[in-house]
Amino acid sequence: MKRLSVNIDHVATLRQARGESEPDPVGAAFIAETAGADGIVTHLREDRRHIQDRDVYILRKTLKTKLDLEMAATEEIINIALDVVPELVTLVPERRQELTTEGGLDVAAQVARFKEVTARFHKKNILVSLFIAPAKEQVRAARSAGADFVELHTGEYANAKGSTIDDQLERLKEAAMVAAKLGLKVNAGHGLDYRNLKAVAMIDEIEEFSIGHALISHALFVGMERAVKELIDILKEAEH
Ligand code: PXP
Repeated sequence: MKRLSVNIDHVATLRQARGESEPDPVGAAFIAETAGADGIVTHLREDRRHIQDRDVYILRKTLKTKLDLEMAATEEIINIALDVVPELVTLVPERRQELTTEGGLDVAAQVARFKEVTARFHKKNILVSLFIAPAKEQVRAARSAGADFVELHTGEYANAKGSTIDDQLERLKEAAMVAAKLGLKVNAGHGLDYRNLKAVAMIDEIEEFSIGHALISHALFVGMERAVKELIDILKEAEH
């Protein structure tokens, strides 16, 4: 069965807009798990624009599924992650001005650096995922760096229109196949929603989907529980 990891960052975005304590992303995580989510993802950004350190530490204590800590490989955040000990860290590029994570990591250009960071996490039994474009050279570099997972960036697929959608699906499929052949586990995420999830969920090698913006947006109107369940239903449909 394909798995759903729910990214709760935007619950914190709403909280930070008011600078008070509500809505609490920890509460959202609880409802998402109760509705059937297989894990919770959260991105502790260097600028702390949404998720705060407190959220990560409380989630570590309260989650019943698993915590995937999305993060830039900077010394400050690495040290927090080594202290929190999530089940998985997903390393992503981060730029101050971006609205959201824009591209994948260029692992191929920095294999030695990612190898060193991955080894530090492995010492603490934390699995490592590298967020990359669906490009074979990046997949191979992730394998050389010792990663356990790759998360394939689905942003270009999500933005594709017309006949280019199939080209993007093909890129994702090829990258997923190369990753699986190399013994990597494959996740995918970015820009996935209620319309575009099914086609990408039909790629056999992709095991888990990390979804935030579309889910939290839908939850504003239908509630968190239903928003999660509707995505799980799409994943079930894709199995057939
Ligand atoms: N995966 C990664 C690595 C991301 O950076 C993001 C965005 O925070 C997501 C998945 C979720 O993307 P979206 O919010 O578009 O569903």
